[in-house]
Amino acid sequence: MTTGVQQAAAGVDVPEVIGIDTVAERARTQGTRTRRYLNAAGAGLVSDGVMDAVVEHLRREQEFGAYEAANLVAPRLEQAYSDAAELLGCDADEIAFHDAATTGLRVVFDALRLGPGDTVIAPRSSYVSQALRLLTLRQLDDVSLVVIENRPDGSIDLAALESALAEAPGAVISAVHVPTSSGLVEPIAEIGQLAQRYGAKYILDATQSVGQIDIDVRAVGCDVLVATGRKFLRGPRGTAFSYVRRGFLAELKPWAPDVRGSTWSDGEVWTTAPTARALETWECAVACRLGLAVALREALDRGMAATEAHISSLAAGLRAAVAEIPGVTVTDPPAASAGIVTFVVDGLASREVSAQLRARAIDTIAIPASHAQWDLGERGLDAVVRASVHVYNDEADLRSLIEAVAEIAHAAQEKQQ
Ligand SMILES: Cc1ncc(COP(=O)(O)O)c(C=O)c1O
Repeated sequence: MTTGVQQAAAGVDVPEVIGIDTVAERARTQGTRTRRYLNAAGAGLVSDGVMDAVVEHLRREQEFGAYEAANLVAPRLEQAYSDAAELLGCDADEIAFHDAATTGLRVVFDALRLGPGDTVIAPRSSYVSQALRLLTLRQLDDVSLVVIENRPDGSIDLAALESALAEAPGAVISAVHVPTSSGLVEPIAEIGQLAQRYGAKYILDATQSVGQIDIDVRAVGCDVLVATGRKFLRGPRGTAFSYVRRGFLAELKPWAPDVRGSTWSDGEVWTTAPTARALETWECAVACRLGLAVALREALDRGMAATEAHISSLAAGLRAAVAEIPGVTVTDPPAASAGIVTFVVDGLASREVSAQLRARAIDTIAIPASHAQWDLGERGLDAVVRASVHVYNDEADLRSLIEAVAEIAHAAQEKQQ
């Protein structure tokens, strides 16, 4: 080990974990046994309970047929609405399930029926799929799109947002809580206050925050919040859900009414459910939905306050330690406090850094600018390495990562000389 590596490893200050039994979390998470898994922001490791629920249901479908199997678990599926509502602080009829956060955002934006004269306001932290959706609205549907600059701390400039709202009252705000490209936490409650003051519609992408940050949608004041299942909630892939404020449903006209949310009563007549389910599709992977139901229950039982404290303190320790490594630059902005830490290594492509970490059984991911052009592209970063932590991560995981990054950075420096 080199001096730089030792120094960096010594710099890891992992705060004492309060409220989370990391040993127990690891014991019920098979994925922690063989690797140092630091990619919750890609897809969190599922617990054994989530896995069992999925597999059991696939066997149920094999034995009874898919429709009959779904009937057998109907109360459990129904309970998932209440559990998602409990997590977000809303009512069960304000929850809709989807197969991806992108789907949730798409059906909501489609149902807003935006056109010439409408304005959408978005932050630099927007995720690629949503940014491209908004650019499509601008290019094909004549919708005005305003991208708000950041403050020096990297978060959305609220004064600039207010000016944009004053120019276009009634606009749609397409906000983000935590982006894909850093540990930034946007000021979502302040955005909510501005939305209310200017009569704006407030759609919040909480894909990277639900499951790691305690969120109360009524306190945030958003009209819609969209979340995914597989990241910090630790549900299976192919699951997502949204909150749609009851009073906001009247603003939404589903672009492609589905048998799930609409009843075709006669000839050219149909009615749409007076609940968020109006935005769902009938078809879904019931096994995965059941896995998500278990993940939701586990998140609630663990407690969001304790989870948030654990994740943010682990990430803060990691961020500080990575910043100490010679030849490594943390690329998180000052306003970063979420469980995501991003960095670059001098002289080595981020994809290569991530590959070298993977070869050491440490999982991170390289995020290219093409996933966040308004953020990474704007900052002149073509890619960053992203490490993201969860309740199953412990001090040993962080130390392994720090030591490995220090080694990789040191080797890259030697090669350059
Ligand atoms: C901030 C953010 N929003 C939206 C998405 C899209 O989520 P999904 O892949 O579930 O559609 C992602 C995915 O990484 C994301 O990071």
